[in-house]
Amino acid sequence: MENFEQRQHGERAILVSVSVQLLDDLDAEEFRLLAQSAGAEILEHVSVQRQKPDPKFFIGSGKVEEIAELVRALDAELVIFDHSLSPAQERNLEKVLKCRVIDRTGLILDIFALRARTHEGKLQVELAQLKHLSTRLIRGFTGNLEQQKGGIGLRGPGESQLETDRRLIRVRITQLKDKLIKVQQTRLQGRAARQKAAIPTISLVGYTNAGKSTLFNILAKSDVYAADQLFATLDPTLRRLEWDGIGTVVLADTVGFVRNLQHDLVESFKATLEETLEATLLLHVVDSSSPNMPEQIEAVESVLKEIGADAPILHVYNKIDLSGDTAKITYKAPELPDRVYLSAHSGQGLDLLSQAVQQCLMGQLQQFDLVLKPAYGKLRTQLYTLNVIQSEHYDDEGDLHLSVCITPHKLEQLIKQAHLPLDEIVGAKSFLFHRVLEEFESKQE
Ligand code: GTP
Repeated sequence: MENFEQRQHGERAILVSVSVQLLDDLDAEEFRLLAQSAGAEILEHVSVQRQKPDPKFFIGSGKVEEIAELVRALDAELVIFDHSLSPAQERNLEKVLKCRVIDRTGLILDIFALRARTHEGKLQVELAQLKHLSTRLIRGFTGNLEQQKGGIGLRGPGESQLETDRRLIRVRITQLKDKLIKVQQTRLQGRAARQKAAIPTISLVGYTNAGKSTLFNILAKSDVYAADQLFATLDPTLRRLEWDGIGTVVLADTVGFVRNLQHDLVESFKATLEETLEATLLLHVVDSSSPNMPEQIEAVESVLKEIGADAPILHVYNKIDLSGDTAKITYKAPELPDRVYLSAHSGQGLDLLSQAVQQCLMGQLQQFDLVLKPAYGKLRTQLYTLNVIQSEHYDDEGDLHLSVCITPHKLEQLIKQAHLPLDEIVGAKSFLFHRVLEEFESKQE
């Protein structure tokens, strides 16, 4: 971890939250937790109200002066904004505040840098940091940055990278991208092997600190790092396990989500969420004791939508020992669970989770009778690779009749990917055809 320097003491920081009309989506407590996760010692938390952002400083120049006073009086080393700042705003602020300034993206990247554990995770973080830094090569405050090496927002590639020129950064970015492609290929091979054996994958997703790793540990009886810090997990961690009534499944733990994740951050971390895209079932873990639960659910679901994850979701309302809810399953349709209320800590409701997952997965595997024209051979190859064909025969016309056992979701995905007409393939007499078609049409609306 030579790239990831950590300081012995907390960096003395002032936090600034700006509530801008219409953009008001602040959560002061979460911002403090994020800063603490990055190792900041919080000296002061300043709140600023504005009609709209100031192009030069984001906040008004009077407020900047006030914060500059605080920096001097409290001997702060760093000011962290709970917003995205443009490189120019960051520079202008550093000039006046005479200390380093980082924005929300820089802060999140820093936490990712501290938490990245696998090779791929570290490469992803370094890449994202370099991209973020490359637009910020000229800093407003250059005084003794060398001595501050390893501070918040400077971990990962480190401040010395700032002194190398843009060309070198571009070379490094290319190298990292090549390395990532190789690492991802290896991972994809693992996934292809799993798909071949048609093993269902269950992905745990959820807002940071919701309790994903805790639940993962219990389900997998493993010991993945769970800590009362945000983003304790960066890389998806996979376990193969036996699920009651289902058989072998793969369980994936994923990175925690946050609100206002910038689009390029979402892009950078997509790879860590790829397991989520391929999942048979998503367990959306929710902290039912959080006062911001609705916003957190919304944030997770909008990111899932953005990355194109469309697997069925089972909501896991965790921490009922704190929220006071009782352990139960609620249904959106008969046999189709929507929510499970449980506590990963006390163990209440864990049996219900087992039951609800069973219902979700069992309900998903369906028998389909398909008719494929000779030109649709590629789809047959894919179904064959997935090991889901139960029987097959050719009729006099040369059409192939297949009986497959697969989730409607997966079948629909394959047919869509191959650009084939769904109604021709799925036997029109099939009762399921109507259901799949309805789902298909409602998604297209
Ligand atoms: P990130 O890695 O940040 O995405 O977090 P996570 O969702 O993996 O959360 P994690 O499992 O690390 O749990 C966060 C904190 O919540 C830890 O302090 C856990 O001990 C605590 N926690 C998890 N489940 C429960 C629960 O059922 N009840 C209570 N009271 N605390 C819980």
